[in-house]
Amino acid sequence: MLGARHHQRRYDGQLAVVTGASSGIGRAVALTLATRGAQVIGLARRRDLLDELATELAQRSPGSATEVCDVGDADVYRATLARLASDRGKIDILINNAGIDIDLHVASDQGDGNATTHEVFDINFFAAVAGTLAVVPAMVQRGAGIVVNVSSDTARAPEPGQGAYAASKAAVSAFTESVAHEVAPLGVHVHVLYPGWVPTAMGLSGPEQGGSLPPKMVRRTADGVAALVANRMGGPRTDINAAVLPLLAPIARIIAPVSYQKSMRRFSP
Ligand SMILES: NC(=O)c1ccc[n+]([C@@H]2O[C@H](COP(=O)([O-])OP(=O)(O)OC[C@H]3O[C@@H](n4cnc5c(N)ncnc54)[C@H](OP(=O)(O)O)[C@@H]3O)[C@@H](O)[C@H]2O)c1
Repeated sequence: MLGARHHQRRYDGQLAVVTGASSGIGRAVALTLATRGAQVIGLARRRDLLDELATELAQRSPGSATEVCDVGDADVYRATLARLASDRGKIDILINNAGIDIDLHVASDQGDGNATTHEVFDINFFAAVAGTLAVVPAMVQRGAGIVVNVSSDTARAPEPGQGAYAASKAAVSAFTESVAHEVAPLGVHVHVLYPGWVPTAMGLSGPEQGGSLPPKMVRRTADGVAALVANRMGGPRTDINAAVLPLLAPIARIIAPVSYQKSMRRFSP
């Protein structure tokens, strides 16, 4: 999957901010970037997990740290990024990875579906928007910088019960792609990450949890996705696809729409 010319791209001397760094993909990305020379600031809400991460980050890259930050509060997130940029001189890399996945069962909604959808959008979409808007203008002024916003293959092929999550990720993809087109000529690289299926706290849905594993061709590890991000970001492709199989979904729905719908409906919760 990785071209040799991208092998072990390094980020020495660069400041990288990673949201959702307390677990899963964000934690792996934070550690990978620190190993590759970046000073990493990891943001999330769970202090105990951030303290453990801070120790590991500092061993790999002195000057790295973690901070409690609820990115669902856009004002707090913006203020945190502004302070970090001022204290550290600049933010070279921003990974908007924090996310939540809450099912939306429309057929049996008890009246809280609207609030659930807003909550999911606040963290998955509006935080990515706030972060992107907070760092890109300064990157444009410098003519350099990288933003990675984490989407999901669910954005391309929404499953039943995923209305809020899939819609928030589709919004991330559309927003990020548009920004990428706007700022690429100005030297700033903005990417959408599609992680495939990763066995994290969010991604757990295997047999032990009463679910079934997705096809092997979409299963990835957090470390594998982190290495892919570190190798690909800053390159010419806007999309970073950890798994290629989901790219066929838009083709399948055009060529065989009824079969496509039947296969998606099998995922009914
Ligand atoms: N796992 C998969 O298969 C998969 C597939 C496609 C896309 N993704 C996306 O990948 C990203 C990472 O997910 P993951 O699989 O690594 O799940 P995870 O282990 O549950 O990680 C989610 C991270 O987001 C953080 N977070 C949630 N709400 C936050 C908030 N309000 N403020 C700050 N941080 C917050 C969590 O930290 P705290 O709880 O400590 O705040 C945690 O570190 C998400 O955007 C997810 O949608 C995952």
